[in-house]
Amino acid sequence: MAVESYRKVETFKESDIKTKTVEADVLIVGGGMSGCGAAFEAAYWAKAAGKKVILVEKAAIERSGAVAHGLSAINCYMGLSDRSQFTNNKPIALEEFVRYVNLDMMGVSREDLVADYARNVDDSVHLFEKWGLPLWKDENGKYVREGRWQIMISGESYKPIVAEGAKKAIGEENLYERVFITHLLMDKNDPTRVAGAVGFSVRDPIFYVFKAKTVIIATGGATGLFRPKSTAEGMGRIWYAVFNTGSGYAMAIEAGAHTTQMEHRFIPTRFKDGYGPVGAWFLLFKSKATNAYGKDYTENVETIAPYQPYASATPVPTPLRNHQMIEEMVNGRGPIWMRTDEAIGKLGAGDPKKTKKVLDEAWEDFLDMTVDQALLWAANDVEPDKTPSEIAAAEPYLMGSHSGCAGLWVCGPDDLMPDEYKTLFPLQYNRMTTIKGLFAIGDNAGASPHKFSSGSFAEGRIAGKEAVRYSVEQNFEPTIDDSKVAEMKKKVFKPMETYEQFKDATTAEEINPNYLFPKQTLWRLQKIMDEYMGGISTWYRTSDAYLAEGLKRIGKLREDSEKLAARNLHELMRCWEMVHRITVAEAHGEHLRFRKETRWPGYYYRTDYPKLDDKEWKCFTVGRRDPSTGSWNLQKVPYVQVADYTI
Ligand code: FAD
Ligand code: ADX
Repeated sequence: MAVESYRKVETFKESDIKTKTVEADVLIVGGGMSGCGAAFEAAYWAKAAGKKVILVEKAAIERSGAVAHGLSAINCYMGLSDRSQFTNNKPIALEEFVRYVNLDMMGVSREDLVADYARNVDDSVHLFEKWGLPLWKDENGKYVREGRWQIMISGESYKPIVAEGAKKAIGEENLYERVFITHLLMDKNDPTRVAGAVGFSVRDPIFYVFKAKTVIIATGGATGLFRPKSTAEGMGRIWYAVFNTGSGYAMAIEAGAHTTQMEHRFIPTRFKDGYGPVGAWFLLFKSKATNAYGKDYTENVETIAPYQPYASATPVPTPLRNHQMIEEMVNGRGPIWMRTDEAIGKLGAGDPKKTKKVLDEAWEDFLDMTVDQALLWAANDVEPDKTPSEIAAAEPYLMGSHSGCAGLWVCGPDDLMPDEYKTLFPLQYNRMTTIKGLFAIGDNAGASPHKFSSGSFAEGRIAGKEAVRYSVEQNFEPTIDDSKVAEMKKKVFKPMETYEQFKDATTAEEINPNYLFPKQTLWRLQKIMDEYMGGISTWYRTSDAYLAEGLKRIGKLREDSEKLAARNLHELMRCWEMVHRITVAEAHGEHLRFRKETRWPGYYYRTDYPKLDDKEWKCFTVGRRDPSTGSWNLQKVPYVQVADYTI
C-alpha cells in the first residue's frame, strides 16, 4: 500500500460493507511464531481427521510479528537428543532449565508449562534447519551456543522460512491475511464456549465472520501501552513488535477468560535509542557493562542483597540485573556503557583476522535482528571496537514469551500439571484457557516465559494438536447469534460513521469535541500508564493510590473510546488496536494493585510495599473481568514446584 493511501479519506457506511462468513474447525488468530507452529501441527492432525484449519493475520505472515525483521539467535534450545531421559513423568534433563526460568521469574512460574514446551522445542529447531534456516556451526559441526540455552543463527529470513512451512501445511486458500480480528464470538447456546471470531479486512470493505469449533489466539504481547522513550518522528521505534497491541489478551478478557500474572511486564535493557538487544554482547562476546566511572555494576551484590534467595541465582534474574543498573542511574552514576571495545579487543587478542571475525559477528547480530541499531551506529560513526555504546532500560511491555510472563491461565499437560491447578481449573486440553474451546499460545499463554521464538512455535504445535483433538471429541456445531453479529458489525465500523457525522463541525480536523483519533487516544493512554502505573518517568515506581487514580482515568478513556473516529480502513484498525490496549492496560492496573509487594524490582516497584514477600505472595495472581459488569475479581493461586531442584 502506498503511503498516500494511509492518509486518504475513504470511509464506508456499515450498510456498504459486505459480510463474508467462513467456517472452520480450528481458527488460528495471528500468524507469528506461535501461530505458524499451531498451523503447521494442526494441519497434520486435521488432515487425518478430515477437519479444516484456517489462519487469520492482520498483516502478511511472511513478515509479521516480533520476528518480522529477523532474529540473530534461537533463545530456547535444550539440545536433548535422548528422549529416554524422561521417566516417571519427571522431566529430569530439563530440571536445570525449569529452575533457571523459575528463578528468572523470582520464584513464580508455571513449571508444568515451561517443562512441556522445553521438552518439545528441539524438534522444532531441527525443523527450521531442515527448512533452510542457517544455524551457526563450529568446526565440529555443533551448533554455536550463545549461552546455555541460546544458539546463534543467521536469521534475517527466519520469519519467511517459518511462514512458508506454515503456509504450505494449511494451504494458501486457508490463509486470510490483512484481516484484523476485533472480537471473539461466543456460542449462542452456550455462552461459555467460543464459536469463532469477527474482524475486518484492512484493505477492502469486508466484515469477516469466522465460525469455528475452536479458536487459538496467537496475537503476541501488548506494546504501546506505556509512553516510549522515543519521541516525535521516532515514536514507533520501540523494542518489541509495534504490531502486537494486546488483541488476544483483550478479546479473551472481554469474553471472561482468566488472566494470570498480568501485573508482570518486561523491561528490556537495550542499546540506547536503537533498541539493539544485549544478549549476544553479554553471553557470546562476554562483554561487561559499566557505569560512568568504569565500574562493572553487576559486581554490586549489595544492591540486590535484599532479594534473596533469588539474588544468588546464576545468572542473576533479569529484573535484578535491571535493578542493579537502575540504581546506578538514579544515584547519579549513569550513563551505562556496554564495553564493546574491550570485549572485541579481548576476543581479537591483537590478531586482525580474529578481530575482523568478531566485528562481522557484532554487525550481523544487529543486521539480522534490529537493523535500526546498525543504522544508528553507522549514522553516528560508531566503531564498536573503538568506542563503548550506551545501554538503558526501556519502557514496559506486556508479553509472555520472553523474560515476561503476563498472559492467560491455560491448561497444562496432564502428566505434569499439578493437582492443585487441576482442581481449581478443571480443564482437559493442553493450552486451553478457561473458556471452552479457546486456546492461548506464545505471548498469550501466561506464567510460562522464556519460550522465545522457538518455544512459541513449539507451544503452537502443542496447542494445534490439542485443538484438533477438541474439535474431534466435542460433539457440537458452533451456533452463532445472527443479531449479535449484526450488532458487532455496526460497532466495528462505528468509528467511520462517527467521523462522517462530525467531520464538518471543525475547521481543524484533529480538534473536534465529538470524536478522537486513535493516535490521540494512544497519547492519552501512554500518559496515564507512564505517570500512574510505573512507566519510565517515575523510574517504574507506583503505589496503590497512583494505581487507583490511573484506573479511574483508564475508565474515562474507555468511555471516550466510544467516540473513536476513523478516516479509512487502516485507521479503523488503529482504533480497534486502541480499544484492545485499553482493556489490557486495565488488566495490568488491576493485577498490579492486587499484588501487594515488589516481586520484580527492576521491572516495577510498589513504593507502598517495597519488599519481596515470599510468605504472602509467592503465588500466581489470577484475575477475571466479569463480561456483563466489567468488574474484576482477583485471587491467589498457589505456586507449585514441579521439577526436582533446589534453589
Ligand atoms: P509474534 O511472533 O509477534 O506473532 C503475533 C502475530 O499476531 C503477528 O503476526 C501479528 O501481526 C498478529 N496479530 C496481532 N494482533 C492481531 C489481530 N488482532 N488480528 C490478527 N492478527 C494479529 N526470540 C528468539 O528466540 N531469539 C532472538 O534472538 C529474539 N530476539 C528478539 C528481538 C526482537 C527485537 C524482538 C521484538 C523479539 C525477539 N525474540 C527473540 C522473541 C520472539 O520474537 C518472540 O518470543 C516470539 O515471536 C513470540 O511469538 P508470538 O507468536 O507470541 O508473537
Ligand atoms: S533478544 O530476544 O531481544 O535477543 P536479549 O538480547 O535480551 O533478547 O537476550 C537474549 C538471551 O540472552 C535471552 O535468553 C536472555 O535471557 C539472555 N541474556 C541477556 N542478557 C543476559 C545476561 N546478562 N546474563 C544472562 N543471560 C542474559
